Amino acid sequence: EKITLSIIKADVGSMSGHVMPHPDQLAAATKVLAEAKQKGLLIDFYVTHVGDDIQLIMTHRKGVDAPEIHELAWNAFQAAAKVAKELKLYAAGQDLLSDAFSGNVRGLGPGVAEIEMVERKAETVITFHADKTEPGAFNLPIFRIFADPFNTAGLVIDPRMHEGFIFEVYDVFEGKSVKLSAPEEMYDILALIGTPSRYVVRRVYRKSDNLQAAVVSVERLNLIAGKYVGKDDPVAIVRAQHGLPAVGEVLEAFSFPHLVAGWMRGSHHGPLIPVPQRYARVTRFDGPPRVMALGWNIAKGRLIGPVDLFDDVAFDETRKLGVQIAEYMRRHGPFMPHRLGPEEMEYTTLPAVLEKLKDRFVKTEEVHVIKRHSALLSGTSEEEHD
Ligand code: 13P
Ligand code: 13P
Ligand code: MG
Ligand code: MG
Ligand code: MG
Repeated sequence: EKITLSIIKADVGSMSGHVMPHPDQLAAATKVLAEAKQKGLLIDFYVTHVGDDIQLIMTHRKGVDAPEIHELAWNAFQAAAKVAKELKLYAAGQDLLSDAFSGNVRGLGPGVAEIEMVERKAETVITFHADKTEPGAFNLPIFRIFADPFNTAGLVIDPRMHEGFIFEVYDVFEGKSVKLSAPEEMYDILALIGTPSRYVVRRVYRKSDNLQAAVVSVERLNLIAGKYVGKDDPVAIVRAQHGLPAVGEVLEAFSFPHLVAGWMRGSHHGPLIPVPQRYARVTRFDGPPRVMALGWNIAKGRLIGPVDLFDDVAFDETRKLGVQIAEYMRRHGPFMPHRLGPEEMEYTTLPAVLEKLKDRFVKTEEVHVIKRHSALLSGTSEEEHD
């Protein structure tokens, strides 16, 4: 019998800027889900948050993209947004881009990660919850978990993993995906996912039997809304153990606080810092970006847990390094590469600034002089530069 684990998340307003939701918002969402559990639509659920994003973790038998489940999540977020409006919280209803639900929350603002599974004898699952970053932030750790033997010993040791994994990479601009096989196509995978703003690892499958091992929410809010409306703070599900990476191998990939896009106004690079639930609120420069990991066992759809997996002194040095990197990056102020590049800034004020200054730009060098300069620099003739 198959069950589905769904995480649907949204930022529907928060206390004190973009720091964290109000407890009454979580209570309002919980009430909606509790009623659905009573009615039998949900088997189980857990409501949590990371930073200002509310996360609904749900189990049910409706499969992925089920309209009833998506509508339920939508209603829970509406209830939480209503509280935000009453309390005059910041950016109430931020990620609910549409006024009306239309069968599926995809494209309406919330982020979605769902896996339908036949429960294994022990179904160990880790849910990841990040704030102040984008879906591509998971590219590096997901790659390391499922393709890097220096991270995951099991790729070498465990016969069930030895053939490798299939990576489904999604192009968020084109809405297309490609399936690539690791280790054989490792370099192709990296050629794509090294551009995390565009290519996002969406799903991972075990090659030996096609078992789905991971899923990442790939919604990019600014692409949906056409303007900057807050970052698309992502969630991910990773199954572990028993022919899959061990929990410790999965977590190991987060021991390096790599640079991701997000942070202040969704416009800065900063380290992704692994934190326990008590630190799942963002303050310094509205960040830095962070990720929380919850460990579960699923028993006939029941959510057993969570274990707050980054609540371990073993991650203290990662956090310390992350804070040092945050300090180093911050000193760049409004300069790249702390501030994101122009492609990523196109939904902000930058186009308006360029437009305003358009007539004040004066030509200070003739075109042929510029050409000669670049020809000299590259050691080619001028003609080749046309
Ligand atoms: P234990 O001996 O503690 O069960 O550990 C088993 C293991 O494989 C750890 O990765
Ligand atoms: P969120 O995407 O978490 O709402 O953050 C928005 C922001 O602008 C933070 O500075
Ligand atoms: Mg917000
Ligand atoms: Mg957020
Ligand atoms: Mg957001």
